[in-house]
Amino acid sequence: MITDRDSITLKEQVIFQGGQEGKRVWEAGIAISRYIISNKGLFQGKAILDLGSGTGIGALTLMKFTEAQKVILSDYTEEILELLTQNRALQPRSQVAVDTKLVDWTIQETYEQLYEVKIDFVIATDVIYKGSPYDHLATLLYILAEKQNPRILIIIPRQRDCCQDFLRIMKEKGFNWTETELNDNLYSQKALENQKDSDKFYPGLKSLNFVLYTFNL
Ligand SMILES: C[S@@+](CC[C@H](N)C(=O)[O-])C[C@H]1O[C@@H](n2cnc3c(N)ncnc32)[C@H](O)[C@@H]1O
Repeated sequence: MITDRDSITLKEQVIFQGGQEGKRVWEAGIAISRYIISNKGLFQGKAILDLGSGTGIGALTLMKFTEAQKVILSDYTEEILELLTQNRALQPRSQVAVDTKLVDWTIQETYEQLYEVKIDFVIATDVIYKGSPYDHLATLLYILAEKQNPRILIIIPRQRDCCQDFLRIMKEKGFNWTETELNDNLYSQKALENQKDSDKFYPGLKSLNFVLYTFNL
């Protein structure tokens, strides 16, 4: 459930091992879905790249609820790409063109394929955490920003310690940004029909303060 009126069907795996973080729907992913539904017009006719898509919650929300021109789902293992393909197939038909790409932020050859693709927006949620190669992600964002200057939307929980380090790296690369607190009730409401299940599977909806960072060079 994204809002009390809108929902999306996704397959996820609640128990996973290190390196399989993309198999779960993360609360920041739910937050970007809610943001997208509240700001549909922003994406009309646009091409959007989702980095570290995981289950695909952000990009598939764009596919289902907006009139985006194109969405590109991406992640770094064949296993997660297979999950993305399955989750895409669970969505109703849509006019939005959808593409899925293997993009590993740590391997430049895997993201060179993006240089010639039109990208108006980059979205990424819950990609800045201890152990994530966010320094490489910053390099990828810098290269894309230099080539096409997309608007980059990243949601990071305020509580995340390594966020400051990521921001330092982004500053060093010359990025500016704005911060928007996503503190409307919309962002903390239950994500499953049953409140208890929602609290059990997505506790962060109640405990995390989501911040939307919009970066540009
Ligand atoms: C915490 S999950 C967030 C998934 C999804 N964005 C969400 O909000 O539900 C982090 C995502 O980053 C991806 N990731 C981690 N390292 C990566 C890398 N080197 N290159 C590309 N994606 C990576 C993971 O596979 C996973 O999908």
